[in-house]
Amino acid sequence: MDERLQKLRQKRELALQGGGAKRIDAQHAQGKLTARERLAVLLDEGSFQELGALATHQNTDFGMADKKFPGDGVVTGFGKVNGRRVAVYAQDFTVLGGSFSQVQSNKICRLQDLAMESGIPLIGLNDSGGARVQEGVKSLAAYGEVFFRNVAASGVIPQLSLIMGPCAGGAVYSPALTDFVIMVDGSANMFLTGPEIIKAVTGEEVTSEDLGGAWVHNARSGVAHFESASDQEALELAKLVLSYLPQNNSQDPPSLTPYDDPYRAEAALDSIIPQDDNQPYDMRDVLDLVFDRESVLEVHSQFAPNAVTAFARLDGHSIGIVANQPSVLSGALDIDSSDKISRFISLCDMFNIPLVTFVDCPGYLPGVNQEYGGVIRHGAKIIYAYSQATVPKLCVVTRKAIGGSYVALSSKQMGNDIALAWPSAQIAVMGAEGASKLLNRKKPNQDLKETLSDTEFIAEYREKFFNPYNAADVGQIDEVIEPAETRLRLIQSLEVLRTKVQTGLPKKHGLFPV
Ligand code: HXC
Repeated sequence: MDERLQKLRQKRELALQGGGAKRIDAQHAQGKLTARERLAVLLDEGSFQELGALATHQNTDFGMADKKFPGDGVVTGFGKVNGRRVAVYAQDFTVLGGSFSQVQSNKICRLQDLAMESGIPLIGLNDSGGARVQEGVKSLAAYGEVFFRNVAASGVIPQLSLIMGPCAGGAVYSPALTDFVIMVDGSANMFLTGPEIIKAVTGEEVTSEDLGGAWVHNARSGVAHFESASDQEALELAKLVLSYLPQNNSQDPPSLTPYDDPYRAEAALDSIIPQDDNQPYDMRDVLDLVFDRESVLEVHSQFAPNAVTAFARLDGHSIGIVANQPSVLSGALDIDSSDKISRFISLCDMFNIPLVTFVDCPGYLPGVNQEYGGVIRHGAKIIYAYSQATVPKLCVVTRKAIGGSYVALSSKQMGNDIALAWPSAQIAVMGAEGASKLLNRKKPNQDLKETLSDTEFIAEYREKFFNPYNAADVGQIDEVIEPAETRLRLIQSLEVLRTKVQTGLPKKHGLFPV
């Protein structure tokens, strides 16, 4: 028995060594943790149960018979994050560059299946040179197995992808199919085709960092939702994101014991909207004052900054916030912000997180490039996502709700349960100057009298529509409130709506306007 135990212990010890001391040193030299060190940061102490630690590949081509490592470049298993069960895989770059083999796929797929059956979140730590070249099509098919399960798990369990090293070729599609992508600045990059192939095909010269670094995917492409400065920070961020999410779609997100006064009325909100309509303000200041102290966590903060999407807490409950950001592009909606907003609405809806929308939007951004880029179908995504979402939906119009932005973001017709407005709200079909131009089209021999009539028209238009009372009169706004009351009104409204049930017509699925 002793001998047999000894053998197991030796094998286990070998598995812990990954690709060996030299490669672990190289990993550390790049400022990266190893797969097992990352798991130690992520998981509650002593909670990790590994599966497949001794699995090895069976490939004998290209000298691979001599290159066997227990675990084959990925550590998989279950553990706990702040007491909650999670499934997790961590690719081990020290073993054959973390390259993706059939064995890796088998281990990850098994984890995906068990996570779906048990209804627990799946976290993937990615650090890999992509498909294992020596395995040919087997390695490609292996990716397909994982992608298929990513889709099956979508909307059932939360899926988080942390990119902590290279993620190239087909490897990018698994993270792209998950709910959140967190990239580590400096060490992570994601691209379908690398700099060398791009140079050969298009002649463009670009570095890996400029092609697919953390900044690129957070600020430009929108592929990533969070950027972190280090492995540790990325892992802590993953824990924080999880804290707003339920274990699966049949549960509500966990709520915290309330730690902030529900009756806290912030007088600062009463004067936050500038007197001048064209003056910006930072919507994040509004959110920080309304929601539980320090609870606002922006998602996609660098992408499409003319909109804000964030998790927060209200009286301890998890909330999804959608807001316009008047300090960027006056908060106008465009292609990227439509993508950002609609994705976030769908995400909150699938995980039973109520939505609160703060509206200050002059409408969709005019422009030839926007129209050529398909702002019509991108903008339609917001309407589709709100209309489809059955979670409680509240809105607060802080200032402008003009034209399409009123309909898409704050109208009862999108299924808004309770629509609140501040006295500074302006709800109209279009801006006053635009309306004047449209209705009082200038004639070639226009005289001074007609110009004055424009001014009168604008004054009358502003008087009539640039307030919330017209909309409240006709029942499109439920209540005009003092800004300082916003927190309490939202808490009370959500208390009522917590048990909301809404069902639609049976269908296979609709056609999301992608
Ligand atoms: C097999 C690989 C590998 C791979 C790296 N290695 N990538 N082995 N298949 N895909 C091995 C290396 O040979 C090396 O082994 C060890 O891992 C460490 O790699 P290095 O190159 O020494 O590390 P580094 O200098 O840090 O460079 C890392 C890297 C580079 C930038 C990721 O390895 C690289 O460019 N790899 C290929 C990336 C790529 O193009 N992947 C896409 C594959 S196509 P030794 O033993 O020599 O130390 C694809 C399509 C899938 O994924 C489509 C699915 C739908």
